[in-house]
Amino acid sequence: MRATTVLGIETSCDETAAAVVRGRSAAGPGDILSNVIFSQLEEHRPYGGVVPEIAARAHVEMLDGIVEQALAAAGLGLGDVDAIAATAGPGLIGGVMVGLVTAKALALAADKPLIAVNHLEAHGLSARLCENVAFPYLLLLVSGGHCQLLGVEGVGRFRLYGTTIDDAAGEAFDKVAKLLGLEYPGGPHIETLARDGNPKRYDLPRPLRGRPGADFSFSGLKTAVRQITLEEKAHPADLAASFQAAVIDVLGDRTRAAMAMFVRDFPDAAAPSFVMAGGVAANGAIRDALGALCAAEGFTLQVPPPKLCTDNAAMVAWAGVERARLGLFDPLEVAARARWPLCTA
Ligand code: KG4
Ligand code: ZN
Repeated sequence: MRATTVLGIETSCDETAAAVVRGRSAAGPGDILSNVIFSQLEEHRPYGGVVPEIAARAHVEMLDGIVEQALAAAGLGLGDVDAIAATAGPGLIGGVMVGLVTAKALALAADKPLIAVNHLEAHGLSARLCENVAFPYLLLLVSGGHCQLLGVEGVGRFRLYGTTIDDAAGEAFDKVAKLLGLEYPGGPHIETLARDGNPKRYDLPRPLRGRPGADFSFSGLKTAVRQITLEEKAHPADLAASFQAAVIDVLGDRTRAAMAMFVRDFPDAAAPSFVMAGGVAANGAIRDALGALCAAEGFTLQVPPPKLCTDNAAMVAWAGVERARLGLFDPLEVAARARWPLCTA
């Protein structure tokens, strides 16, 4: 199979990123030729969260330079890539538009095909960039905006097993971090703090645990943490550890339920992969717990390294490689989308 080289652009939240990735074989892994990322954390820090207008403006200011850096680091010119991929949604619409319009301009100027990438699909396929992971596999997509369990049958072919009925897991980490006076994004701070805490100190709820289906709920857990902080001078490390333990229990219980659905749908998949993706998959305690669940249930755990779990452009470029191989290109008129579910069923 001929190698496919794609320039990827990511601007859907608060990272401005560009990367060049090359795919050589059908199932991966791919080669990351460059992976440049500019985090806007400093711009948003005073506000304790991402401000969409500030994000869009920063993307405009940074993106051209980041793309140049990504090409230079890969030792390639625009003429050397086979296609240009950009996140076209879901995300903060101003930022998505900046990335997509830039990709369109580059595609037009260099006469290259355009690929409009779904950010969630990019997270979902990222494990195949790192390892040879065969379809079908079970995917837990856990980020600041999403918490879903999906069966992945192929590029663009997803089955929804469970989704959050309120907050995303990363959102819960961020809100609890805020209650504890920690900076945004809170996930990594909670993980560090939890290492020194007693996870049994606070008895927190495990929403939807044991219920039929594989849906998630995190808002009650966040409210319970808030209640504790209002009622007493809480011990931060113990509260962080107790919160993280509750999240782990919920993720494990819901994943076990989805594993049963996956095995029912794909009875012939031998030792199928269980892939974790999205920023929360960077959490070591969550990875360890779900790794143990995989060992018990006959799944093989696959988690990209932390810098490919959080938002990056290498995963967008890789989704572009996978789509390009299937001839899935998009017209220059393709629109940016604030909402873009992977599947509606
Ligand atoms: O995938 P991502 O970079 O952006 C979205 O598409 O949302 O995920 C960001 C989310 C944030 O909520 C952040 O707090 C969380 O991932 N996160 C973590 C960790 N690292 C990032 N949550 C728990 N533990 C971590 N180590
Ligand atoms: Zn993301």
